[in-house]
Order: sequence, then structure tokens, then C-alpha cells
Amino acid sequence: GSAPLVLGIESSCDETGFGIVRGTQLLANAVASSMEEHVRFGGVIPEIAARAHLEEFTPTLQQALDTAGVTLGEIDAIAVTSGPGLAGALMVGVAGAKALALATGKPLYGINHLVAHVGVGVLDGVRGGEPQAGSGTQPAGVVHSGTAGSVLPEHLGALLVSGGHTEILQVNRLTSDVTLLGSTIDDAAGEAYDKVARLLGAGYPGGPVIDRLAQQGDPKAFRFPRGLSAPKFVGTAEEPGKHRHDWSFSGLKTAVARCVEQFEAAGVPDTEIPTADIAASFQEAVADVITAKAVRACTEHGIRHLMLGGGVAANSRLRSLLAERCEAAGIGLTVPPVRLCTDNGAMVAALGAQLVADGVEPSGLDFAADPGQPV
Ligand code: KG4
Ligand code: ZN
Repeated sequence: GSAPLVLGIESSCDETGFGIVRGTQLLANAVASSMEEHVRFGGVIPEIAARAHLEEFTPTLQQALDTAGVTLGEIDAIAVTSGPGLAGALMVGVAGAKALALATGKPLYGINHLVAHVGVGVLDGVRGGEPQAGSGTQPAGVVHSGTAGSVLPEHLGALLVSGGHTEILQVNRLTSDVTLLGSTIDDAAGEAYDKVARLLGAGYPGGPVIDRLAQQGDPKAFRFPRGLSAPKFVGTAEEPGKHRHDWSFSGLKTAVARCVEQFEAAGVPDTEIPTADIAASFQEAVADVITAKAVRACTEHGIRHLMLGGGVAANSRLRSLLAERCEAAGIGLTVPPVRLCTDNGAMVAALGAQLVADGVEPSGLDFAADPGQPV
């Protein structure tokens, strides 16, 4: 085909990802994760993540090339996550990408990780809801309205929820017009899961274990706070659109800690603390406040279509409640397969291909990794 062959590189956290696309067609998505090495610390250790990227860089690249059936010489452009993320982790990806660009003479694009999460939506089948080759048992994208196809609509909203970020973005044009409508002012949603899982002695990473535990609990057993959800917190006349749709999860985490403490203070043995009810009630609070505020942000900004991204997109309650509330509000919803929601190289390649198609100037070889890179 004539569409450009683009290599995407992701190393902002614990996943070393290499994706290869031809235009909007996904050819390979190789991911190596260092999560197993972080488990015993109960959190991602930046130095360990950076060293793992260095180790996994060439084998994962080779795996992606083999899967796609292409050689490095055939690649037309390279895209790499330049931020936001862990400094040392980003540097490995950026340095590696520069070396590849220098060696091959191909253009290099430094890419924003958050925008890349949205970029994955342009891939064939993601928006249209068709399961992709190799997607295994992962759920396909779902769409409530709009037509099947690979092109994202304009005025798209993007809800990104993971261990590192919780944001609602307005994407008027993927390659040039993306604004932040709201983000967490303290913990990311995934961090809140990790902290609550630790409080309940449930293990790490917290998301999947709490999600599983919550299946056996009553989400109405406890009423935990929904941070910043009262209308009085939603924006000001002086600063319309600023911080109108922020989240806060620290009060929720504290409420769960108090709840556990009360059982302990009453002499309830650890084994009799209703952890499943606490997990289900916590999960309900997270899903409620995330989806309510995301839908409100879309409604206020005239956004008719929302895309979900980030590892917490795997959460069962978040998915069902978001689908329910988007449908009620007449907002179309795209939920990519989980392997494309978690950090990966395909999303970076997909956004890179859009930049090439839009004739955007490459970044050159001088840009730096930027841990705090804004959208
Ligand atoms: O996007 P991701 O792979 O990496 C970043 O954090 O950027 O997301 C990983 C996060 C972790 O915090 C993990 O606990 C969370 O996604 N997660 C979940 C579920 N599965 C993974 N959170 C809630 N429910 C789940 N089922
Ligand atoms: Zn991410």
C-alpha cells in the first residue's frame, strides 16, 4: 500500500511498547512489561522500569518487526513518546528512537502520551467495533452511535484513566487541537485502586484485584465520598472551563481507611472485615464520579462522542456505567480492546501516522524527554 509505514515506541512507565502501522492498519503491537519486578514494592520503581526498557528495547523492536513482516529499512517514519511519564523511562525510549532515526535517516516525531491514547482510535476496527486480528478474548470496541470506520469524529472527548493519569480531553483535531478539560488534582484513579487494595490487604496492582473482589460485594453497603462532584465545585464565572471537570480521589481513599479502622477499633477480626463490600462500594464511588464528570464535561462542551483509554478502562463497573450514562446522554462511546487501552506502541505509531498524513514537521533529533509534558 501507499500509506506510510510507521514505527511507534512507548516507554513512559513500565511497558516497553513497539507498534507498527501502515496508515490506519495495525500490523504489530509488541509489549514487554516490567510489572512483575515492581509487584514486591507495591508500586512502579522508576529506576527498575528504566533498566527494564533498556533490556527490552531491541528484543521487543525485533518482535514487532517480525510480526509485521517488515525490516527497519522499510519504515517510513518513527514516533516516540516524549512525555508525560517517568523521566528515566522516557529517556530510554527517546534515546533509542533517536539512534534508530539517525541510523535509518527516517523522520522522527516526539509524541504526547495522552494524545497517543486517543490516537489508537483511528486504527481500523477500533472505532467500528470489529475485533482485530490477534485481539484474542479481549472485548472489541463498542459504539453506540455514529458509523463504523477508522476516522474519529471531530469534537471528540477522551477519558483517560490509568495508574499514572486521569484526564478528560477535548480533541477537536488529533494532530493540532487537543485541550485538557479536567484532570485529577491528587491521585490517579489507578493509584487510588492501588492504595485501597493495600488497605484491604488485597495485593498489587490494585485495579484487577479490587475489581474481582468487588464482584462478591454490595456496592451500596457503604456510601463513600465522590470528590469535587458537588455543582458548587464545578467552575467559576471568572474562569469558565478551567478546572471545571477535575477529580479528587484522596478523600475517598481516606474514607476507606477510616472505614477499615472503625472495624478494627470495634475488635472485628481481619478475616471478618467485609472487604468485598468495601471494595464494591469503593469501585462504585470511583465509577460514579469518573463517569458523571466525564459525561458532564462532554455535555457542557457539545461533545457527541467519547473515547475511553488507559488501563482502568478494563474496569467492569467503569465500562458498564459509562456505557449506560453515555447512552442516556446521547453520547457515542468507543472503548478500544484492553490491550490498546493500556500503554502500548501501537497508539504511538497510530498518532505518528496521522502526523505524517497531515504533513506535520518532524521533531528532528534535538527534542528532550519531558516528564511533565502538557497536552
Ligand atoms: O495504562 P496502564 O497500563 O499504565 C499506566 O498506569 O499508565 O494502566 C495500569 C493501571 C493500573 O493502575 C491497574 O491497577 C489499572 O490500570 N487496572 C485496573 C483494572 N485493570 C487494570 N483498574 C481497575 N479495574 C481493573 N479491572
Ligand atoms: Zn498511559
